[in-house]
Amino acid sequence: MKFHIVTFGCQMNVHDSQWLARALEARGWEQAEEDEASVFVINTCSVRDKPEQKVYSELGRLARHLKRDPQMFAAVGGCVAQQIGKGFFNRFPFVRLVFGTDGIANAPNALERLAEGAEERVALLDFVDLYPERELAADGTVTMPGTRQAFVNIMQGCDNFCAYCIVPYTRGRQKSRKPDAVIEECRALANKGVRELTLLGQNVNSFGMDSGGTGVSFAELLREVAAIDGIERLRFTTSHPKDIADEVIAAFGELDNLCPSLHLPMQAGSDAVLKKMRRKYDMKRYLGIVDALREVRPDISLTTDLIVGFPGETDEDFEQTLAMVKRVGFESSFSFKYSDRPGTASVNMEPKVDPEIAQSRLQRLQELQNTITKESLKKLEGRETTVLVEGKSRRQEDSAVSWRGRDPAGRVVNFTSRRDGLTGMIVPVRIAQAKKHSLVGERTGEPW
Ligand code: SAH
Ligand code: SF4
Ligand code: F3S
Repeated sequence: MKFHIVTFGCQMNVHDSQWLARALEARGWEQAEEDEASVFVINTCSVRDKPEQKVYSELGRLARHLKRDPQMFAAVGGCVAQQIGKGFFNRFPFVRLVFGTDGIANAPNALERLAEGAEERVALLDFVDLYPERELAADGTVTMPGTRQAFVNIMQGCDNFCAYCIVPYTRGRQKSRKPDAVIEECRALANKGVRELTLLGQNVNSFGMDSGGTGVSFAELLREVAAIDGIERLRFTTSHPKDIADEVIAAFGELDNLCPSLHLPMQAGSDAVLKKMRRKYDMKRYLGIVDALREVRPDISLTTDLIVGFPGETDEDFEQTLAMVKRVGFESSFSFKYSDRPGTASVNMEPKVDPEIAQSRLQRLQELQNTITKESLKKLEGRETTVLVEGKSRRQEDSAVSWRGRDPAGRVVNFTSRRDGLTGMIVPVRIAQAKKHSLVGERTGEPW
C-alpha cells in the first residue's frame, strides 16, 4: 500500500505525521509521491481560518487523484478533523477516516482495516484522560535511520483557554506523558545516533501539572534529558510565560547542551489586551523573565508569537506592542492578524478591529521585526560557532559542496566545503556574513 501525507500546522503536527509514517511503514506500507499513492492523509491545523480553508482546498485538489480509482481514499487528522469531525464524511465522499490527536494512536490500525476493505468509515475523535502512549519501532524510536535530530512529545493538549485560541478544543485537556516513557524514548534516540532533541508540548512549562503527573516538574525532566549521553543539543517548545519556573530559567545558565534560544509567545505588548486575551501575565512579568534569561545566558536568542487586531485593540495598545518588540529585541517573530475561531471566548468580544487597520498594523509590526532581525544577525558577523549540518543547500558553488545547517540557537547557516557526507555532523564555522534570514559561515578548521 502506498501512502502520501500532507501536513499543516505546528511542530506537534509535523511530529505526529512522522510518527504515523513510521507506524505505517512498520506495517509494510510505503511512503510515495502524490501521483503514486493510493491512501492520502492530511494532518490539519485549525489555529486560524486560513489554514482551515487550506484543508478544504487541498482535499478538493486531491479529489482529482481519488477519482481515478474507487479503492483509493483519504484520511483527515489533526485539529480540523477534531473540529469538523464526521462533517468531512458528508462533504467529501472519499474521506474514510477522521482522527483527532488523541485518536492518532489508533489511526495506523484503522487505516489498515480500511485498506483491506473491512470497514467503510471510521471516526477516532474521543478524548482520553491520560496521554495515549504510541507504538514505537523495535529500537524504541520513531525516526529514520541516520537522523540526527528528533522531536519527543512530552504532553498533549492544553488547559489554558486563551480567549482567542481553538487548541484546547481541538487537542483536549493537558495530558502529560510519564517521565519514564519520555526518558526511555530520549535514550533510545541517543543510542541510535540522535544528537539534537526537541521536547514538544503546547505548554511544556506546565508538564506534570495534570492527572498524568508524577511529581516530576518540567525543570527536573529537562535536567534528566540533558544528562543523557550523546545529546549535544536540547530544545523545547512551546513555553507559556505564566508558567516558566525559575528553575527552567536557571537551567539556561547551567546546562551546556540546553540551546541558547527560547520561543516565548508574548502575543501583545499591552496589559489591557493581555488581560482580555486571558494570558494571565502582564508585561512586567514578561520583561522580568527576559531579563532573568539574559542574565544567566547573555547570548540567548528570543523569538515570539504576536497577534494584532485582537477585539478592542486600540492604536495605543498596538503602539505598546511595537515598543515591547523593540525593548525585548526578538530575533524573529511570527505575527498574525486575529482570526475569529468557533467556540472561543473572543468571538463574542467587541469591537472587532477593522480588517484594513489590522492589516496595516501587521505590516508595521513586520517591518519593525525585519529591521530588528537584520540588526541582530549583523551582530553575529565574525563570531565562531558550530553548525549541525542538515543537508546540502540548494545553491551549489563551483566544485565545493554547499551545506545548510543550524547553529546552537537554531539560526540557519550555509557554508561550503570540499568534503562530502557532512549531514549530521557538527562543524565549527565563523560567521562571515548575515543575510536577511540566514547566515553565511566559513569553516574554521581542518578536516572540514
Ligand atoms: N501553545 C502555544 C501556541 C499555539 S498556537 C502557545 O501558547 O504559545 C500558535 C500561535 O497562533 C499562538 O501563539 C498565537 O499567536 C496564534 N494564534 C492562536 N489563535 C489565534 C487566532 N484566533 N488568531 C490569530 N492568531 C492566533
Ligand atoms: Fe492556545 Fe493559549 Fe493553549 Fe497556547 S496556551 S495552545 S495560545 S490556549
Ligand atoms: Fe494548529 Fe492544532 Fe497545532 S490548531 S497550531 S495544528 S495544535
